[in-house]
Amino acid sequence: MADKRRFELFAAYLKGSFPSARRVYDVAGGMGRLNQELTKAGFEALTFDVRVKRLPVPFAERRLTLEEPCACDLVVGMHPDGATSVIVAYAARHRIPFSIVPCCSDNGMSYKPWMRHLAAAAAEAGFMVEEGSLPMPGRSRVLTGRPR
Ligand SMILES: C[S@@+](CC[C@H](N)C(=O)[O-])C[C@H]1O[C@@H](n2cnc3c(N)ncnc32)[C@H](O)[C@@H]1O
Repeated sequence: MADKRRFELFAAYLKGSFPSARRVYDVAGGMGRLNQELTKAGFEALTFDVRVKRLPVPFAERRLTLEEPCACDLVVGMHPDGATSVIVAYAARHRIPFSIVPCCSDNGMSYKPWMRHLAAAAAEAGFMVEEGSLPMPGRSRVLTGRPR
């Protein structure tokens, strides 16, 4: 069971890491709980997911693809499952930073190799990669990339 505080903790982490970012794409945002916390933290957030039952937050009811026009300063994902690699590729395409809290891989890898793979792929794609963590149990490691 994922920690219920993950949205609040990640929003605070993002505020500390990107104090001047304004517009954020929250990818694989589920029903919009991270969006709510990002808004409280002072960001303008747009959530991408296919959830029909959701909170009343700015929501793009579709999957993020590389063709999505970019109108954000930062792209993020909390436990984004199948969207994880897309987030990194999208950030690389648009030369914007990303920050993700990965959980399951989208290629069958277990957690630790998956984290190493993501960090290496992001470095290869031209990012300076930082690792952090949220103070909660479970999948709490944060991978952040800033365009070099
Ligand atoms: C494990 S859930 C996490 C939801 C939420 N972030 C949370 O922590 O509860 C993964 C979500 O990724 C969404 N998803 C997968 N690929 C996506 C994509 N390309 N764009 C947007 N959402 C995607 C799924 O619909 C699902 O809601």
